[in-house]
Amino acid sequence: MCGITGYIGSRPALEVALDTLKRLEYRGYDSAGVAFWGGEKLQVMKRAGKIQQLSDLLNGVEAHGLAVSHTRWATHGIPNDPNAHPHTDEQGCVAVVHNGIIENYLELKQELLARGHQFRSETDTEVLAHLIEEQLAQGYAPEEAVRRALQPVRGSYAIAVLFTDYPDRVVVARNDSPLVIGLGDGENFVASDIPALLPYTRRVILLENGDVGVVTRDAVRLTRLDGASVERPPVEITWSAEAAEKGGHEHFMIKEILEQPEAVRDTLRGRLKPNGGIQFPELKLEVEDWQKFRRILIVACGTAYHAGLVGKHALERWLRRPVEVYYSSEFRYGDPILQPNTLAVFISQSGETADTLAALRLCREAGYTTLGIVNVVGSSIARECDHVIYTQAGPEISVASTKAYSTQVAVLYLLGLYLSAINGTLPMQTYSEGVKGLMQMPSLIARSLETEPQVRQIAEQLHQTPLAFYLGRGVDAYVAMEGALKIKEIAYVPTQEPPAGEMKHGPLALVEPGVIAVFIATQERTREKLLGNLKEIKARQGTVFLVTTEDDHLLPQEADYTVFVPKPPLEELSPLVSIPVLQLFAYHVARLRGCEIDQPRNLAKSVTVE
Ligand code: AGP
Repeated sequence: MCGITGYIGSRPALEVALDTLKRLEYRGYDSAGVAFWGGEKLQVMKRAGKIQQLSDLLNGVEAHGLAVSHTRWATHGIPNDPNAHPHTDEQGCVAVVHNGIIENYLELKQELLARGHQFRSETDTEVLAHLIEEQLAQGYAPEEAVRRALQPVRGSYAIAVLFTDYPDRVVVARNDSPLVIGLGDGENFVASDIPALLPYTRRVILLENGDVGVVTRDAVRLTRLDGASVERPPVEITWSAEAAEKGGHEHFMIKEILEQPEAVRDTLRGRLKPNGGIQFPELKLEVEDWQKFRRILIVACGTAYHAGLVGKHALERWLRRPVEVYYSSEFRYGDPILQPNTLAVFISQSGETADTLAALRLCREAGYTTLGIVNVVGSSIARECDHVIYTQAGPEISVASTKAYSTQVAVLYLLGLYLSAINGTLPMQTYSEGVKGLMQMPSLIARSLETEPQVRQIAEQLHQTPLAFYLGRGVDAYVAMEGALKIKEIAYVPTQEPPAGEMKHGPLALVEPGVIAVFIATQERTREKLLGNLKEIKARQGTVFLVTTEDDHLLPQEADYTVFVPKPPLEELSPLVSIPVLQLFAYHVARLRGCEIDQPRNLAKSVTVE
């Protein structure tokens, strides 16, 4: 989610640091920092704000030969100077830059505090600096100290570490977060992402999970976490810098669609315990506080609103308590009936959406307990809510929201299962299936994304449609709304998305040859009724594209095109496996129609006016 870079060689190290960081600014941009060799010891300079702020701070400062640097996308702790990377131990023996999430950082921090360490930031990363310093103090060499320090660490990391007593090396390590070493002549580079390095070198070593590397000017030595040596042959990068920024993809949107397994995994990380328990370590709500909520209000806009609808479906079924979902822009006009013991939930990727912020302020005035489900740490909604759960989707750059939606839905599932467990509203077996489904979700989404070649072919057949219906029943009707929003906003295809049962009450009049209907049919109990809806379309020579689960033997017989997605252990979880197909379809239709995908006309990523 953040960007990290490192350099060892004879160039002006700060110039390299700033230049490589700027190429990663798309990864995160709320603060930046650098650690470098100051002649006698390490120096660290860091600043909240864009990289330009760091550049201003470094004006006139010189450093040769050695630096690690970082551009931050906050996950733990607001974007401010102390939380910016690099992080150091008390004496400044080591400086660490980190990309990823340390799941058990609170536990490790408690232990370190008990051993007398002092912390200066709210980040998860700082524990790494203290853990490495402890190992150095016991006499271990830098790479061994890093290997030993990482033993108790759970979570994802790509780290680059400098040592005040060893200014001839950078030590790096990776687990579940990308890290590459760029090879030069008498110089070497480190980066979380290839684009940072392309002006300097195209020969890179891609580290694997569990690799630890020592990078000097003239050599790279790799071991595994247990100390065993390992060889990773370098590869030659042939992408352009622009393509590399998008991970080799044509657009950020497709990159972000494909990142969903990872984004959901990061969202579940540390919240879904291996024993099936659910926790929100960041919240200061006790079980009794949660139990007093009799009603839930969800307020959001656009895609976040659609995530809220999916959440309503799951929460009401699991919790048997009323959940109302409001468009933020309509909240004040809906004249909501204020009731005590209501939890008001605000969902927002940016955390800056003006309508959602206005609704939040009304709820606060009314005395509700407010909970934000937000992606951008330290954003206005995050700051003004009583409690926040961060979605951990990482920066979403394409205007069309994709991975933010999946992570919002994942948080709502966690919340639903957690509340149903503490209120005893779900049979144990259903709860276990829910947990199992969430644990499997990253791989189920990955399987769903494997349908891309087929979806692209279907898009080739259907992209010229003048009108697309998106139809489903139950929770599939909510997924249909999100699928329709995607194709509308990026491919400019007019859509109709009533619940399927509403078709015969009016919208059916619009069906004629050339019109398409995208059916979502993941819920077994709705299929017989959907069959009737599907036939209504066919009888009027509309074309049917069906998205259904692998167990469906009924509807595919009637559809013109069918894409099968995996069936999760609980049907309530199916939106996370069906939505990728609709996102891919919208993406390929837009591509074939020659649309400006990442920045569709008339729209903005963050809507900060009411
Ligand atoms: C969806 O693709 C849009 N970008 C839009 O509907 C978005 O979800 C909405 O504006 C809400 O934004 P937020 O999540 O940042 O509050």
